[in-house]
Amino acid sequence: MVTVFVPGVFDVFHIGHLNYLMRASEAGDCLVVGVQDDREVLRGKGASPVIPLAERMAILEQLRFVDKVISYISVSQGPLLESLGAEVFAVGEEYGQDERFPDQITSLNYCADHGIEVCRIPRTQGVSSTAVRSKLKEFWVSRAGLVKELHAGVTVLGSFSGKQDKVEEQTQREVGLVLEAVPDASEKTLLDLGCGDGRQLVPLCHHFKEATGVDYAEGLLEIAENRLAEENVKADLIESDAVGFRSNRSFDVVLLSGLFPCLDDAQAEQLLKNLNEYTNENSTVLVRTSIATDRRINVVNQYSAELSAEYTAYYRTHDEMLRMFQKQGWKLEKDCSLYQHRSDTGVWWYHFSPQIEAADQPQSTWNRKAA
Ligand SMILES: C[S@@+](CC[C@H](N)C(=O)[O-])C[C@H]1O[C@@H](n2cnc3c(N)ncnc32)[C@H](O)[C@@H]1O
Repeated sequence: MVTVFVPGVFDVFHIGHLNYLMRASEAGDCLVVGVQDDREVLRGKGASPVIPLAERMAILEQLRFVDKVISYISVSQGPLLESLGAEVFAVGEEYGQDERFPDQITSLNYCADHGIEVCRIPRTQGVSSTAVRSKLKEFWVSRAGLVKELHAGVTVLGSFSGKQDKVEEQTQREVGLVLEAVPDASEKTLLDLGCGDGRQLVPLCHHFKEATGVDYAEGLLEIAENRLAEENVKADLIESDAVGFRSNRSFDVVLLSGLFPCLDDAQAEQLLKNLNEYTNENSTVLVRTSIATDRRINVVNQYSAELSAEYTAYYRTHDEMLRMFQKQGWKLEKDCSLYQHRSDTGVWWYHFSPQIEAADQPQSTWNRKAA
């Protein structure tokens, strides 16, 4: 059993504290959290904690990965480490680097003299993205089961409350926007990333030379496949995560409809980096996405009575959308509002083309890399 001791104030418990403690717990088998006494905090920081000691301790005791919580008065941790038999001393990145806290140096020296490992924990941000991402995938997989209730458009979140004529009307409009952006579609290849049940892919197959749809929800792809058969058109359907999707081919048109709200920032950035590998200097990227009308909204595992499910969606602002694409070398050709279904979010349409570098640049004329 390797005992890890991690000290701190842990006032007004926040996500940074949680990440810090989770990382500390990974450094051994038994995690002991030391909480600094109110008087000591007042002496060191000149202000008492907002949450009194007993309450700070009570909050920490409820964490699954915390084995024991004690409080301490001295910041010189040597005797305490010894009494606990700790083999690992977990501290933040800045520990021991501020001259105002000489006791921290004393504690580090104690560890060096007694063979106690010092584990430095980098600052981390955000909630556990893996758990949220897999829950979000479950949501989309379960949507496929709704096809019996809603014949089409199960992938268009609550926008039209299942009203088929509205879904159909909107789909026709979006197909029209694609064809307006790509007048010579019959000579072009199309990639629909996050194609879902093929709402747009299937009608677009009638116009493009070749079409490929990618989605990670197998059930939705089955629906798309049936629709392709019904309409007697062909498309390659690939079950894959859109973020990690790679292809040796270069597509003329990439459609990203409804995908961005499903991606957190790290995923969105990765997808746009990869996108540069399977597009070329003549490619067109078309995006249909919900955006926040005022400020960024992150909905994480929120129950929706309308959808009878928990869902996650990242509604970026218009400026964020433009910045993300510009950063990866895409310039805006056209944008317009599609519809506004809620007061704080609306559905927007973007048409991007590659940013061409100045004519005197040698080699490739397209800036594929981040600006
Ligand atoms: C709002 S729906 C849009 C579907 C379709 N493009 C449309 O406009 O009707 C989002 C789609 O993206 C898919 N999706 C979300 N995240 C994905 C990911 N990381 N990889 C692949 N597909 C994803 C979902 O399964 C779902 O089919």
